[in-house]
Amino acid sequence: MNATARLADYRHFEYERTLAKMELKALGAAQVREVAGGYSFVHSNPLHIATRATYFADVMVDGEVIPAAQRHIELEHLKSRGGSRRQATRFGVHGFHEYKGKFNPQLARALINIVDASAQALVDPFAGSGTAVLEAQRLGLAASGRDRSPIAAFIADVKTEALTFGDHQALMKRLAAFSVQVGDALKRGQDTEELAVVPWLHTSSQVYLSQWFTTNAFGGLTAALALHRGSSRPLHERLSLLAISSILRGASLQDPQDLRVRRRKDAFVAPPLRDLYLERIDRFMIGLGELEPLGAARARVTVGSAHDGDLFQNLGGGRRLIVRSLPMPQPSPTSTRTGCLCWRLVSPHPSNYGRWKSR
Ligand SMILES: C[S@@+](CC[C@H](N)C(=O)[O-])C[C@H]1O[C@@H](n2cnc3c(N)ncnc32)[C@H](O)[C@@H]1O
Repeated sequence: MNATARLADYRHFEYERTLAKMELKALGAAQVREVAGGYSFVHSNPLHIATRATYFADVMVDGEVIPAAQRHIELEHLKSRGGSRRQATRFGVHGFHEYKGKFNPQLARALINIVDASAQALVDPFAGSGTAVLEAQRLGLAASGRDRSPIAAFIADVKTEALTFGDHQALMKRLAAFSVQVGDALKRGQDTEELAVVPWLHTSSQVYLSQWFTTNAFGGLTAALALHRGSSRPLHERLSLLAISSILRGASLQDPQDLRVRRRKDAFVAPPLRDLYLERIDRFMIGLGELEPLGAARARVTVGSAHDGDLFQNLGGGRRLIVRSLPMPQPSPTSTRTGCLCWRLVSPHPSNYGRWKSR
């Protein structure tokens, strides 16, 4: 069938236009030709392009317009932000925590499509906040990630769980009720400046952390953390911890403009933590509401080294991808995002995968 894929109405980088064309071909389109605003092509099932491709607004077949799934979720997200003529990179759970060096989700999605659109599994050994793992899940791949930073692995793992959690309505209800208690604790602790005991936080961690907050902010934080269980926390509690973690940059004595460990130079009064936290919870709720229901088995992101061979072992058979960034963010003149590389794994023996990193 003859069809036309129209590019989404934001300004694409040159590399994105190139990836868009490569994706069409990788997804089975033939006779791909550039036309005003997009590409014409021939495909036996143009719906497949609308479902999988990354950079298009829609696909037109015989005068019928099929909205592209990716652009649809971006537009849903942008509705709550006002404005639509840009690419949304924080849709769904992607915006739950800022993580330096985070991938652009569209890039991860496009690379999966281009490198092997039939892949069944993906591994990201430098998973960071889990962008590639999440995009793999959204495309129906089994996915697994690893990061040596416990906070990165926590962020990524909570997001993958939220993506696959069966009942978002029930989750939102629990999170809403719990966040009221946590918000009240933040306020009470901040007002009274009393330090609460957080049973699951080691005393040495508590002492170290206390040096990075004003007394009233630390009072609020300990009161809130004491409400979260130490182990076997249900997802709404883990999301709440993620929300607390994501407000710390603006609430601590760390200079928020400096990526290194540096204290603020000027006197600092911590803002009302309850307001910051509840605003973040609101955003989480909106993000959860944007998600397409995903019944897929959940991915895992665990703490450990990229060099551990076992990362590749429990992914089942079939075609596998490995995606990775550089281990550290590499600032470039135009962006602080990292590059992203994706390979198809060709060895059928998982025991060989441990050696990939030395090549
Ligand atoms: C640029 S970040 C990845 C960001 C990720 N792509 C995302 O979208 O959030 C690189 C990650 O590699 C991790 N890392 C560096 N060396 C590692 C190693 N040897 N094993 C596991 N993780 C490592 C860092 O902790 C960091 O989170």
